[in-house]
Amino acid sequence: MSTLIRGGTVVTADERYRADVHCAEGKIQEIGTGLDVPAGTATVDAGDALVMPGGIDPHTHMETPFMDTVTGDDFYTGPAAGLSGGTTMIIDFVIPAPDQRPMDAYRIWQQRAAKAPSDYSFHVAITNWNDEIHEDMETLTRDHGVNSFKHFMAYKGEVMLDAEKMMHSFARARDLGALCTVHCEDGHLVWMMQQELLKAGVTGPEGHPQSRPPEVEGEATNRAIRIAQLLKAPIYIVHVTCRESLEAITRARLEGQRVYGECLAQHLVIDESVYYDPDPEVARGYVMSPPFRPKDHQEDLWRGLQSGNLQTTATDHCAYCNWQKEMGKDDFSRIPNGTSGVEDRMSVIWDQGVETGRITANEYVAITSANAAKIFNVYPRKGAIRVGADADIVVWDPKATRTISAKTHLQNNDFNIYEGMTVTGVARATVSRGRHVWDGSEIRADQGDGAYVERPTFPAIFDAVNTLRARHPFRSVERPAG
Ligand code: URP
Ligand code: ZN
Ligand code: ZN
Repeated sequence: MSTLIRGGTVVTADERYRADVHCAEGKIQEIGTGLDVPAGTATVDAGDALVMPGGIDPHTHMETPFMDTVTGDDFYTGPAAGLSGGTTMIIDFVIPAPDQRPMDAYRIWQQRAAKAPSDYSFHVAITNWNDEIHEDMETLTRDHGVNSFKHFMAYKGEVMLDAEKMMHSFARARDLGALCTVHCEDGHLVWMMQQELLKAGVTGPEGHPQSRPPEVEGEATNRAIRIAQLLKAPIYIVHVTCRESLEAITRARLEGQRVYGECLAQHLVIDESVYYDPDPEVARGYVMSPPFRPKDHQEDLWRGLQSGNLQTTATDHCAYCNWQKEMGKDDFSRIPNGTSGVEDRMSVIWDQGVETGRITANEYVAITSANAAKIFNVYPRKGAIRVGADADIVVWDPKATRTISAKTHLQNNDFNIYEGMTVTGVARATVSRGRHVWDGSEIRADQGDGAYVERPTFPAIFDAVNTLRARHPFRSVERPAG
């Protein structure tokens, strides 16, 4: 199949120019004007539109058993919704039960993902520590293209990892050349605060943010970073929501530590007032962790992106229906944690980032696509428009508008955290591996059209890590003279 995207302006993380893009065999074949394409080539009209690398969402949870239920979008419906919003690749999470081997969980997730309509990859969570996990981490990196492992400091009694196990995993990941990613909230602190609140009679959704204030996230972020510093392991902090975490990341980066930070589209635009909505069904719909924060944290997150101290944006797409959230109607700590948004991230960030002048279109491509491709080591195959790259492309109408609603979204849940928001910036067309899969009204991708993307470990970063370790094996303590 051959597709020509004609008449648009190519925008990547570092360039902007007028060109047509010819795609065939899943790859970008030629970029230029007046291209000579084979007879029968399909045409996508990009007149007046921008032609950008498809979005990469590096944090989603499709078809995932979590908090006594299963997330609503499966590996077809979720990525299909993503395609309609201009996202052409997700990196999801394999989350083994603490008594399950990572390789066993990985195989199950691969079976579930076989129906994906667009490309996908996996981080693998480390939820315990033993010899089998030590062994499986090597198998995953060596034979299955996994270059990132996830650590939950939260969710006590479920997938939470203590500091000792985290140290084992960080050291192992570092030695294998893989990146450690971390959910930073201390599960013990959260649990204590939940018990206090419940004892005091706070059972509604407002108890959720009250039990997980910014201090809890900031403390855990700082601790994870310091453990990584001790072990000289590169680290990526997922879903940074507050000033306290951003400060810990910024400080470490200024000290020369290799720390990356992700923030979610929703934390840039939604604040904690949602938990006080008079309709408990609405308030429960926003329960996710870390929670939405007081409004003033939003500008800090934008500054984090503007300054480069946060590099990526994601959704943590974890779609639940109202009936699932109702499981916590008498006890906020039992509300399944998670919100959706894989369909809306690209529009929300364009609207609130580019349309407001906070970021340029090039910076937009960096934080929605190219930086994730670089950090997770699939650049320039993904996240770029260049000859030889995968033909994952969004034709973006920067001036079109749409109003977001659960009534019209493609996501498989009955609640949308952006309900009623009118956004400027819409995916007019999406091309996935060279196929025109979204035409502005209909998804044309079939189950299984997507492929698993292997991500090799990081020779360049880890050469630097190993040089550092060889030069400074221990931190020396200077004794005062005399
Ligand atoms: O509330 C959230 N974020 N749910 C998904 C699991 C996680 O913590 O990432
Ligand atoms: Zn998380
Ligand atoms: Zn998550």
